[in-house]
Amino acid sequence: GRGRAEVTVLVLGLDNSGKSTLLHALRPADARAPAPHHAAPTVGQQQEHFTSGGVSFSAWDVSGAPRHRALWERHYRRAHAVIFVVDSADHLRLVVAREELELLLAHPDMFGRRVPLLVFANKHDAPHALAPMQVAAALGLERITDKPWHICASCALSGAGLADGVAWLARQIR
Ligand code: GTP
Repeated sequence: GRGRAEVTVLVLGLDNSGKSTLLHALRPADARAPAPHHAAPTVGQQQEHFTSGGVSFSAWDVSGAPRHRALWERHYRRAHAVIFVVDSADHLRLVVAREELELLLAHPDMFGRRVPLLVFANKHDAPHALAPMQVAAALGLERITDKPWHICASCALSGAGLADGVAWLARQIR
C-alpha cells in the first residue's frame, strides 16, 4: 500500500445526477443518518467517509451547479481519485456532462496526472437509461490516455453497482 491515511476522492457531475444520494449510500450504515425524504440540491460542498478493499476514502461532493465551479477547482490539486456521476437517463444533458468532464480533464491541476477516474452511469433503473457502453461513448472516455478509467452502471437509490465501482477505485490506489 501507499501508506496513506485517507485517499481524497472528488465526486463531480451535473446537478441532479445523483451525487448526494450515491455518497449517502456508500456511507457505513452506522454513520448513516435517516435519509431526507426529499433530496435538496447541494449547496456548496459536503464530505463523506467510506472504505473499500482496505482503502479509506474521504469523498468531497461538490455542487454540480456551474456557479460553484471555483469550489471544485480548488480541490483538483489534492485529489487522488475522481468519481464522475452521470444521469444515464438524461440523454439531452449527456453532451453537457461531456463538456464538464472535458473541462475537468484539461484543467492544469488534472491534465497528465494519473488520477483514477471512476464514472458511475447512474439511474440505471430509470426508464430509457442508456447502457454504460453508450454512456462511455457519449462521454468520449476512450480518448482518455493519461488516467485509468472505469465505467460502472449504478442505482444510487438501491446501492446497486456502487461497491463494484469503488472496489475498482481501491485497486487503482493500492
Ligand atoms: P445536486 O445536489 O443538485 O448537485 O444533485 P446531486 O447530483 O447530488 O443529485 P441527488 O443525489 O440530489 O439526486 C437527484 C435526484 O435523483 C433525487 O431525486 C434522487 O432521488 C434521484 N436519484 C439519485 N440516484 C438515482 C438512481 O440511481 N435512480 C433513480 N431513479 N433516481 C435517482
